[in-house]
Amino acid sequence: MRSTFKKMALAAVLGASVSGYAFAQESVEVLHWWTSGGEAAAVGVLKEDLQKQGVSWQDMPVAGGGGEAATTALKARVASGNPPTAAQLLGMAVNEWSEEGLLGDLTPVATKEGWDKVVPGAIKAFAVHDGKWEAVPVNIHRPNWLWINAKVFKDNGLQPPTNWDEFNTVAEKLKAKGIVALAHGGQPWQDTTIFDDVVLGLGGPDFYRKAILQLDETALGSDTMVKVFDQMRKIRGFVDPNFSGRDWNLATGMVLKGEAAMQLMGDWAKGEIVKAGLKPGVDILCVTAPGTEGSFLFNTDFFAMFPVGKDKVDAQNKLATSVMSPSFQEAFNLVKGSIPARTDVSGTKFDACGQKSMADLKTAEAAGTLLGSLAHGHAEPSGIQRAMFDVVTQHFNSDMSSKDAVAALIKSVNAAK
Ligand code: GAL
Repeated sequence: MRSTFKKMALAAVLGASVSGYAFAQESVEVLHWWTSGGEAAAVGVLKEDLQKQGVSWQDMPVAGGGGEAATTALKARVASGNPPTAAQLLGMAVNEWSEEGLLGDLTPVATKEGWDKVVPGAIKAFAVHDGKWEAVPVNIHRPNWLWINAKVFKDNGLQPPTNWDEFNTVAEKLKAKGIVALAHGGQPWQDTTIFDDVVLGLGGPDFYRKAILQLDETALGSDTMVKVFDQMRKIRGFVDPNFSGRDWNLATGMVLKGEAAMQLMGDWAKGEIVKAGLKPGVDILCVTAPGTEGSFLFNTDFFAMFPVGKDKVDAQNKLATSVMSPSFQEAFNLVKGSIPARTDVSGTKFDACGQKSMADLKTAEAAGTLLGSLAHGHAEPSGIQRAMFDVVTQHFNSDMSSKDAVAALIKSVNAAK
């Protein structure tokens, strides 16, 4: 597969550079999965920024939260020798495409603009390979948030839960009143977004590191992991009957409309809140997922450049420069719900949730509790991630016991290694 990708992509380079002389034009075709209301608004910010520099934007959106469908589409485009100019990638995918030797080298731009000094080390680790900058970070998302409809909580005399026991108590009370406690979309990446929160919330940062980042078999097979699946089973009881296959933004919409009380989701949900004209931190409360205060799960959206011909390199560099500019990082992330991927952008324009995210990022970086998200491609290579998704989702949608889930997790992880 590897060499096929390479041959096809090189054929594309040759083809494009011949035709490129005839149509020397500044444009970029960008493959991404930002199709919800808030996400599309964020794409609009990027498109406008580029247009100001005379680079036109050819949109290649592939719907599907978390980027699964987009990943398949990107592989197909590369395999057919027709890669896009740039593509949205999560951290581990940057590593994997880098190993294919297909990503454009952005080091000259990065050096000129001093990216090294402003991008946090944890993000740089995914962008820089063998000393070369091969991807440009757009944002820092935090998946371990709990979003709460403030009115629903107030009307029912509830306080935001700070650990999983409190969460269960609150959710039981809501359920007893016929209110959907948790808005959820039953898709593997969404199930695993919750799983990440439960592993971190019940086990703490060291346990998350051992089990998820190091795949330590003792941690994976521990009583704590059995309790994680017990909690997942409880959560299954708090979602409505129509959760299966629901898109994440429709689940967010349920919380915004008061049709459900809470959602466990990354801060792209904040993009939907802002788009709906509601106030994050006021109408919709943001609290760290139960038991995860002090830790920061992260995922970053990167853009990486694919080989589409020498005549496109200038436009690719302009895209990279645009994305890294402090003014763009501010404008884009205000709409997207995330925070800037550079440390020198002020937080003054950000709402309470964004400011908390910025402050928590610094604390977590210093404490060693800034941890890559499994659900969002910053913990394990795609094969292992997929194996873990399968077990989490299979358990969530069946009556599999917690002990059997733990055994299946170890087995699947070992088979995927
Ligand atoms: C994440 C991505 C976010 C957001 C979300 C839902 O993986 O990093 O930018 O788009 O998926 O689609």
